[in-house]
Amino acid sequence: MKRIFSGIQPTGNLHLGNYLGAIQNWVKLQKDYECLFCIVDLHAITVPQDPAALRSSIRQTAAAYIASGIDPKQSIIFQQSAVSGHSELGWLLSCLTPLGWLNRMTQFKEKAGKDKEKAALGLYAYPVLMAADILLYHATHVPVGEDQKQHLELARDIAGAFNRQYNTEYFKLPEPQILGQATRVMSLRNGTKKMSKSDASEFSRIHLSDDDDVIRGKIQKAKSDMEAGITYDLEKRPEASNLLTIMAAVQGKARGEVEAAYASSNFSQFKKDLADALIAHLAPIRSEMTRLLKDTAYLDKLLAENALKADAIAKANLKEIHKLIGFC
Ligand code: TYM
Repeated sequence: MKRIFSGIQPTGNLHLGNYLGAIQNWVKLQKDYECLFCIVDLHAITVPQDPAALRSSIRQTAAAYIASGIDPKQSIIFQQSAVSGHSELGWLLSCLTPLGWLNRMTQFKEKAGKDKEKAALGLYAYPVLMAADILLYHATHVPVGEDQKQHLELARDIAGAFNRQYNTEYFKLPEPQILGQATRVMSLRNGTKKMSKSDASEFSRIHLSDDDDVIRGKIQKAKSDMEAGITYDLEKRPEASNLLTIMAAVQGKARGEVEAAYASSNFSQFKKDLADALIAHLAPIRSEMTRLLKDTAYLDKLLAENALKADAIAKANLKEIHKLIGFC
């Protein structure tokens, strides 16, 4: 059995990094795997969220999955909080995860900032919940962007810790799938920083909901450099390299091919073509998202039905886990 689990936090609008680093790969993989694509709202509340905004982001994320090409009849698109097994397995696994492992997580250090004492326990324990998400369904493969690599390594370590503690081979170690060219899409304002929802500048990222003019404006304002030609050099030309990678990923071409085509172009021509390519790719997704979001009853029903499917798998596995632990 080959089963995929992956998820995105419903916090604000999804951006090009989420799309190219995760969703675009999911669409390709769904033919060959049984897939669960989760809207990880329990993860979202590890930092404060406005309830109304969260509710709306959950639907937005579901709409983005479907509009991007995830087939809701084939894959299970669901909301994490609707399946209580995530929280439960999170607790069971937290009882055998050493603090030392969590102390190494770089994302916690970045998100907690200087004042770690004020960070919530949930933010610290977040990677354990992520391990639970994956292991609850015995997912064999986990397609994510590069920034999640450390969390996936921890999920494998936690699976191993469970097996050792209970003298079993119950959990198989899930395989990370960090696929495609755009595994780490960078900020449009700073080619050494990851494109992220939390960046204060709207101009650092392209949202799936951005209209054509906004996309064009953001690409025009994207940081560039003074070198001649558009060439790939991560060290010396991080911004040009990022834009080339985005172009290649959006067009489905090899990066070298795009680089050859623009080796003697200037930024103004390249940016115009990049904006055109992005608009051609994203406009149909945006209009499908808008259409889906008008039908909230459809989205809510779909999420509720899919949660039942996920819950059935989760409950059956938790029963076995309870036996191994000695609860029954
Ligand atoms: P999140 O919501 O931060 O991001 C969702 C997905 O988008 C990818 N991603 C990127 N890829 C390339 N370039 C970027 N700039 C970029 N920014 C984000 C992420 O790698 C991710 O694949 N902890 C996870 C969600 C999660 C999860 C899971 C994932 C919870 N449980 C179980 C897999 C399996 C997160 O916060 O992703």
